[in-house]
Amino acid sequence: MEISVKTINLETVKSACIVIGVLDKHKLTDSAKRIDHLSNGFITQILRRGDISGEIGDSLMLHDVPGLKSARVLLVGCGKLSELNHKTFQTIVTNASTTLSQAKIKSAIISLADLDNNLLSNTMQIRLATEALHQNDYRFSGLKKEMAASLKSVSLHFADNRSAVMKKAKLAVQIGNALGKGRNTARELGNLAGNICTPTYLAKQATLYDKSYSKLKTTILNQKEMEKLGMGSLLSVAKGSRTPPKFIVMQYSGGKKADRPYVLVGKGVTFDSGGISIKPGAAMDEMKYDMCGAASVMGTMVTVNELKLPINVVCIVPSVENMPDGAASKPGDVVTSMSGQTIEVLNTDAEGRLILCDALTYSEKFKPKAVIDVATLTGACVIALGAHPAGLLSNQQKLADQILAAGTASGDRAWQMPLWDDYQDQLKSNFADMANIGGREAGTITAACFLSRFTKKLNWAHLDIAGIAWLGGAQKGATGRPVPLLTQYLMERCGKQYSV
Ligand code: BES
Ligand code: MN
Ligand code: ZN
Repeated sequence: MEISVKTINLETVKSACIVIGVLDKHKLTDSAKRIDHLSNGFITQILRRGDISGEIGDSLMLHDVPGLKSARVLLVGCGKLSELNHKTFQTIVTNASTTLSQAKIKSAIISLADLDNNLLSNTMQIRLATEALHQNDYRFSGLKKEMAASLKSVSLHFADNRSAVMKKAKLAVQIGNALGKGRNTARELGNLAGNICTPTYLAKQATLYDKSYSKLKTTILNQKEMEKLGMGSLLSVAKGSRTPPKFIVMQYSGGKKADRPYVLVGKGVTFDSGGISIKPGAAMDEMKYDMCGAASVMGTMVTVNELKLPINVVCIVPSVENMPDGAASKPGDVVTSMSGQTIEVLNTDAEGRLILCDALTYSEKFKPKAVIDVATLTGACVIALGAHPAGLLSNQQKLADQILAAGTASGDRAWQMPLWDDYQDQLKSNFADMANIGGREAGTITAACFLSRFTKKLNWAHLDIAGIAWLGGAQKGATGRPVPLLTQYLMERCGKQYSV
C-alpha cells in the first residue's frame, strides 16, 4: 500500500472518498468541521438525524456531499477524546480502512490525524495511522489472491502545513511505512507452516535481505561451525530433528565503524514439539510460532534498514526444530554450553533457553552496548501477563527503563518482572552447573535466571513474548510484536531526531 502525507484542499480535491472523524455525542473533529462548512452544514444535518453517534465502530458512507468534488465522504466514529490512546486510535483507522475496502475503494484521503489529545501528538497519529493501514493490508501469502484488500493508496491529510511540523509528519509516515514492512515481514515468517519455515528457510530469508540492503551483511553458521564454537547446548536441541540447525548473524552498519552495536537475539525454534518431554496434542500446531522471537528481530532489521538508522545493529538468530527421535536429548542428559558451564536437561521442552544461552555467549564478541533477547520462552508468561504486554527482565535497571519507555511510546508495551537472586536456587542440579528448569513457581523468572548466568558480562534484557507474539482462536495469526518496541528503542538511541 502506498501511503503519503500532505496538506490537501478538501474542497477542490477529486477523490473517491474522504474519511473524517466524528467524536462521541456527535462532536465534529477539525476536518469534519471543515467539510461541514464547505457543504453548508450537511454533516451536522446528518448527525442530527442520528444515523451515527460517534462511538468507535460506527461508520457512515455519504455520497455526493454538496460543495465537494470528491464522490464520497466516510464518517468514522472516534469515541471520546479522553479515551484516545495507541490502541483506540489504531482501531479507528483500521475500521476506516476495512470500510473503504468493503466499498471496493482503491484510493482515498484519510483525515483522522487531527484529534486533540495529550498522549498522542498529531504527527504520532500520522505514524500510527500508517502502521495500522499496513497492518490491515496484510494477508498471509498462501491466501492473498482471494482476499486482497482493494485499498491500494492513501493520502493522509495533515492540515498543519508549517514546514517544521510537515517535516515531522513526513518522517512519521516514513517510520510508519518502515514499521509496516518490518512488522508484516515478522508476521509472514511467523504464520508460515513449520514444514516450510525451517531453520534453512529462515537462513535463506536473512540472506535475501542482505541482497536488498547495502548496509547489511548476513552470515550463516552451519552445524559444523557451531560444533567448532562449542555450542553444545544449542546443538543438543537440534539433535532430534531431521532438519539441520542454522545460526544466523545479520550485521547492519549504519553507524561509525568504531560504534559498538546493539545486539538483538531472537529465539528461532521453527517447531517446538517439546522433544522427548513431548507436549500434549491440543493446539500443538501453534508451536510453529515458536520462532516469533526470530521473526521479530529479523523484521526489526528490515525496519532499521528501511530507515537507515545511524547506529550499528547486530541480529542473531539461533534456529532449530525441537523434535523427539532416537537421537534426541533425553531428560537427565548433561550438555556443555559454549560458555563452558554444564546443564542438566531435566525437561527437553525447556529448549528455548538452551539455544539462547549459546547465542548470548556468542554475542559477547561484538562488545555490544546492549543485548536484548526476544523469545516465546514460557507458558508461565502467558498466565502471568496475558496477551497485552511482553514480560521484561534485565540485569541493568537503566536498560529496563529504556525498554519500558520505548514500549509506552510505541504502544507496544512491556512489563517488568523481578530478576532477583532469590530465584536462582531453583536451578540447582546435583549433576551439572545448573538444571534447565526451575520447577512450577515463577517459570518466567527462573527461565530468565537461567539466561542471566550467560550474560554476566553484558548489559542485557530479555523479552518473553509468549503471550503477545500471536493471536489464537478465530483471529489466529502472528502479530509482528515487538517490532514497534524494538524499533522505538533503537530510534531513541539515535537521539531526538526520530521522535514524532
Ligand atoms: N515455546 C514454549 C513456551 C510457550 C508455550 C510459548 C506455550 C507459548 C505458548 C517453551 O519452549 C516451553 O515449552 N516452555 C515450557 C518450559 C517448562 C518445561 C519449564 C513451558 O512453558 O511449559
Ligand atoms: Mn518448549
Ligand atoms: Zn519453545
